[in-house]
Amino acid sequence: MSPHPSRRGFLGAAAGTALALSVPGTAAAAPRFAIGDKDFLLDGKPLQIRCGEMHFARVPREYWGHRLKAIKAMGLNTVCAYLFWNYHEWREGQYRWDGQRDAAEFCRLAQAEGLWVILRPGPYACAEWEMGGLPWWLLKHPGDAFLRTRAPSFVQPARRWLQEVGRVLAPMQLTQGGPILMVQVENEYGFFGEDRDYMRLMRQALLDARFDVPLFQCNPTNAVAKTHIPELLSVANFGSDPERGFKALASVQQGPLMCGEYYSGWFDTWGTPHKRGDNARAIRDIDTMLKANGSFSLYMAHGGTTFGLWGGCDRPFRPDTTSYDYDAPISEAGWLGEKFRTYRECLSRHLAPGETLPAAPAHLPVMAVPAFALSETAPVFANLPEAAIRDSSPRNIEQYDISRGLVAYSVTLPPGPAGKLEVANARDLAWIYDGGRLAGTMDTRQRRFSVDLPARTRPTRIEILLYTIARVNFGVEIHDRKGLQGPVVLRTKDGAAEELKGWGIRAIDFGADGELPPLRWQAKRVAGPAFWRGSFDAKERADTFLDMSSWGQGIVWINGRCLGRYWSIGPTQTMYLPGPWVKAGRNEVVVLDLTGPRASRIEGRTTPILDELHPERDLPRPARNARPNLAGLTPVHTGQFAGGPATQEVKFDGPARGRQLCLEVVDSFDGKPHAAVAELALLGPDGKPMNQSAWTIAYASSEEAHKEDGGALNAINGQTSDYWHTAYGQEVHPGPARLIIDLGASTEIAGLRYTPRQGPDTVTGRIRRYRVFVGDGLVRQL
Ligand code: GLA
Repeated sequence: MSPHPSRRGFLGAAAGTALALSVPGTAAAAPRFAIGDKDFLLDGKPLQIRCGEMHFARVPREYWGHRLKAIKAMGLNTVCAYLFWNYHEWREGQYRWDGQRDAAEFCRLAQAEGLWVILRPGPYACAEWEMGGLPWWLLKHPGDAFLRTRAPSFVQPARRWLQEVGRVLAPMQLTQGGPILMVQVENEYGFFGEDRDYMRLMRQALLDARFDVPLFQCNPTNAVAKTHIPELLSVANFGSDPERGFKALASVQQGPLMCGEYYSGWFDTWGTPHKRGDNARAIRDIDTMLKANGSFSLYMAHGGTTFGLWGGCDRPFRPDTTSYDYDAPISEAGWLGEKFRTYRECLSRHLAPGETLPAAPAHLPVMAVPAFALSETAPVFANLPEAAIRDSSPRNIEQYDISRGLVAYSVTLPPGPAGKLEVANARDLAWIYDGGRLAGTMDTRQRRFSVDLPARTRPTRIEILLYTIARVNFGVEIHDRKGLQGPVVLRTKDGAAEELKGWGIRAIDFGADGELPPLRWQAKRVAGPAFWRGSFDAKERADTFLDMSSWGQGIVWINGRCLGRYWSIGPTQTMYLPGPWVKAGRNEVVVLDLTGPRASRIEGRTTPILDELHPERDLPRPARNARPNLAGLTPVHTGQFAGGPATQEVKFDGPARGRQLCLEVVDSFDGKPHAAVAELALLGPDGKPMNQSAWTIAYASSEEAHKEDGGALNAINGQTSDYWHTAYGQEVHPGPARLIIDLGASTEIAGLRYTPRQGPDTVTGRIRRYRVFVGDGLVRQL
């Protein structure tokens, strides 16, 4: 099929709106920036966009200029910036663009450094950001499938948001003398849905908001064709194989080739190994793209830090670390090391005639802070607000207008025998106290939602302290409502289950910026969840890295400003504290620790610790010592995948019902005894991928843990760039490679969608023949 000459579409949109907006004297002028047949055109001449991503919300405002200088010095000519809707509208209808949120100022600074800007205002962003940038209050609406659709409950607020973006940033477009070259519509929508009319609606919302520069959409290579519309330029996102990405683009349109996100590294999630990018490969790929007359945007040029409580969460539930260093060429603290040097060296070979690179900006000062003690405490339970919400059974917190934070639930139990306290859902972590004694924890990561309670001889108060960490930022699982969700039942040994009613609910809502509530301090150590306070004196206002490795889990504030979350399970053990947020003289540090520190001291280091895992510091988790239990079972499906990296869908002969699904590998394309899966989604009877928020890995024959992160959760986290890989750096498992997913409840499964490990055809583990089992007892606990 010959590619549609969609160029007419791009120019049509831009020129049409430009005319409508024109002011006398400029009406006839052709737009300075346009999309040509093969090139981007600036003032009629081809422009190769060498772009790098940086999120102003993740960099202290005082350092924006420094980082933009570094981006320019690396050899880039454009900076790409997401807007996170929830960052600007945390409370419905209350928009904020002050301080750290001053997007227009960021554009002005970029322009002053000689950089163009690509703007990505959403409404959805992804980006390892709370709920992918969508505001939590959308979840007050019922339903599990309305976000990112044409449902009015989504479209109306989304249009309002884009209108507000236009008010603030339309004047920063190139057409009005600003640096904004292009604007992205939505984000990787093809990864999520297939409703092209939804994309058209979002495009129209941007046109209505007075955006008149070219508009585009981005999608991973595999999803480019799915939601391409001629009105938008398509660009492809990938971290390898640029030839394939560019081919996918050429198959849907005639126009310049661009990689919308080239992954320089990758993000980290709590409890999994620190990720690093393959530098040599990146340099090769960038070189390839530029030689092919292509353009690109590095994701990330500079990752920075997800300060405050803005971190997102991979699915099913893998919260992202506060450090967003990303192994990017400009480090979290703006350091320019070997990686920066090799990028600069590569890019300097591709400059436009007459273009020269400025010198890299100077290294910013770093300081050590001697260890200081935090000796005052404010126990959480003693500092909850007086007023309680009353409800017969707990509902998700959005229903109570609580955005995020600490939520304490209490109920009184009459005397009675021992039993199991069970809740339908507890997002994200909860500590259960029985008459003031810690009875156990609930943990959404393992879908562990029950705790044993002893017998009671008198009425006993049950208190549940719930901590929300982050809303999932990817997939249909973004409908991530928080809190304890009823019914809550007490199940006794004889099987009797009684629903517990009459709850009191008190919350510390940390709000948009991690606002601290008024706290009553005492000068003594305590056990259990508490705020801790101490201070240090600084002689200079320099960067430092607070070492949190002797603490448990919680949040840090510096001089009243919320720095972010920490969790000593790692891999990040330090917190980047930027110099401008330090005061010369006394600095107050407050730490919320939910599990209690091993030593209540902190020191500031001169280097970060980003790669130290401590699983032994995690909440107790059930040992995963399950075995597959497939003897005598007939597979519901036996098949053979196609070679190559393309996503493939398989329909079973008929829907199968069960709580578990086992993918058993018969052999792999490379003939080696290994298997890898980038993504495994299951299709419901409607042919659509199912919601995975209740899924856990029930069994994996083995997982590579030494040479790379081959953890089985990678197969169901929605990211095609990481993958489950059977072990090879340690002992190789002798039997067939098997992955068993537990869906949380018996479900009708009509088929599956498999994404092979990405990359060239030489990668190991791409599955050839396989078998699928579905049932309720596919694993046996040892
Ligand atoms: C996708 C998204 C980005 C980001 C990256 C992973 O490509 O578009 O926002 O989430 O994945 O870092």
